[in-house]
Amino acid sequence: MAANNVPATMRALRYNEYGNAFDVIQLHDNVPVPRPAAGELLVRQYASALDPVDYKIMNGNLTIVEIGRDFPIIPGFNIAGVVADRGSGCKREDMQVGSAVISYANVRQRGALAEYVCVPERICAPAPAGVPLLEASTLPLVGTTSWQALYNIGKLKKGESVLILGGTTATGLAGLQIARALGASRVACTCSERNFDLVRSLGATDPIDYRTKDWRDEMQDGKFDVVYDCVGGYVSYEACQDPKRGIMNLSREKDRHCYVTICGDQQGYLGPARMLQSGAQIGSRKIASLVPVSLGGTSPNYDLYTAKPTQEAIEILAAFAEGGERANAAFRARTRDPNYSVADIEGWKPLRVLIEESYPFDEIERVKAAFEKLMSGRSRGKQVIVFHQEGKEEVVGEKKEGMEGEKEEQSEENEKGQSEEKREEQKEGKEEEQEGKEEEQEGKEEEEKEDKDEKEEQSE
Ligand SMILES: NC(=O)c1ccc[n+]([C@@H]2O[C@H](COP(=O)([O-])OP(=O)(O)OC[C@H]3O[C@@H](n4cnc5c(N)ncnc54)[C@H](OP(=O)(O)O)[C@@H]3O)[C@@H](O)[C@H]2O)c1
Repeated sequence: MAANNVPATMRALRYNEYGNAFDVIQLHDNVPVPRPAAGELLVRQYASALDPVDYKIMNGNLTIVEIGRDFPIIPGFNIAGVVADRGSGCKREDMQVGSAVISYANVRQRGALAEYVCVPERICAPAPAGVPLLEASTLPLVGTTSWQALYNIGKLKKGESVLILGGTTATGLAGLQIARALGASRVACTCSERNFDLVRSLGATDPIDYRTKDWRDEMQDGKFDVVYDCVGGYVSYEACQDPKRGIMNLSREKDRHCYVTICGDQQGYLGPARMLQSGAQIGSRKIASLVPVSLGGTSPNYDLYTAKPTQEAIEILAAFAEGGERANAAFRARTRDPNYSVADIEGWKPLRVLIEESYPFDEIERVKAAFEKLMSGRSRGKQVIVFHQEGKEEVVGEKKEGMEGEKEEQSEENEKGQSEEKREEQKEGKEEEQEGKEEEQEGKEEEEKEDKDEKEEQSE
């Protein structure tokens, strides 16, 4: 054991070659625990949600991000755990050894699918108070992506309208909630009809079933200020560029990209030739969007966006997930509205991204199943790999002094609701039992009476 009871070795999920994630992922013992460099925290992982980019890198489609790296590689971006050690120069008072934190590993480093991972302190935030780390582990990558796409790139403002392509992708689920929290007046999205109730509960105003309807026809004259594309493909951008369809408001506001895609047109292997082709296409779209609308410009400001871990993003996600005063303060600073209050946002709820299923990291067949589910493209929420279960009790972000943890209130409510339900059930059960006894008694009495009558008849 080294300092702070950190062991010398750990278990980690790794790959040694490119291929289908469920073929190449392996569980390894005796992997050296990384040592935090200056300015880094060593985090003991509690849980880590998977993202499509994990398998895209593992199958060799994005080798560009691994140039200069040797196998074996530990994948994984989402960090949710407890600080086990601090490198020199770490400054944050609120992220000491033992503090629960969340973060998002950068694409070069990754390494979140292990019992311990190092991450720069400057891109960590105290975990949302009262929120189980299992739930918090779903937020860093998809939350950062959607926050940056809608707030930093799309510059979505109060009263504006947004169309989210792929409302039930995990990024879309976060995007719906972020759009609502930023005060968007209309939040349309595409998704399967079976998910209409889910997306409405998170802020969608008009969902469209992409399986039975063509959203490009449904959204004519939609006049969206921002389109956030979490699905990709050529047709979406083309439709938004077509002036006859009138899908978008063409803002020429400086540095504002109204058509933000996180997927782009190209799927699959991104070798040098396709990278060049994609670069040329992005360049031509950017040039087209420079033509002023008054001179016949029809192209929305286009951006193929790749998320970056930043303190700004991780802090807002933690605050948004925590709710209360932490959320108010974070949104006030970012919306520049000194009176911003979550209480004024209709239907406001703390940020959550649905968990579809969680999988223990040390059961490799289950880990493979998690990747298989992810790769099906049909996830309904996140697949989460769980590391330390501490006897299976929940690990939650620390409560701040004087703060009422909404989660706790919620679970108290749930418990209250459950115990009331139980009491009701027990009462019903007792009543049924009593009724049964009474019926039995009545039955006995009737039998006795029948016997008596029979005897009397016989004696007569
Ligand atoms: N650029 C970046 O920084 C960045 C960051 C994060 C993610 N991404 C990329 O963004 C994409 C989405 O990632 P994710 O994790 O959010 O996805 P995900 O959760 O794995 O997406 C699964 C969901 O997509 C829905 N879906 C599939 N095809 C659809 C379509 N044509 N229209 C509408 N919905 C559709 C499915 O709904 P049904 O089953 O109902 O069809 C399912 O609920 C991936 O390609 C990912 O690599 C990029």
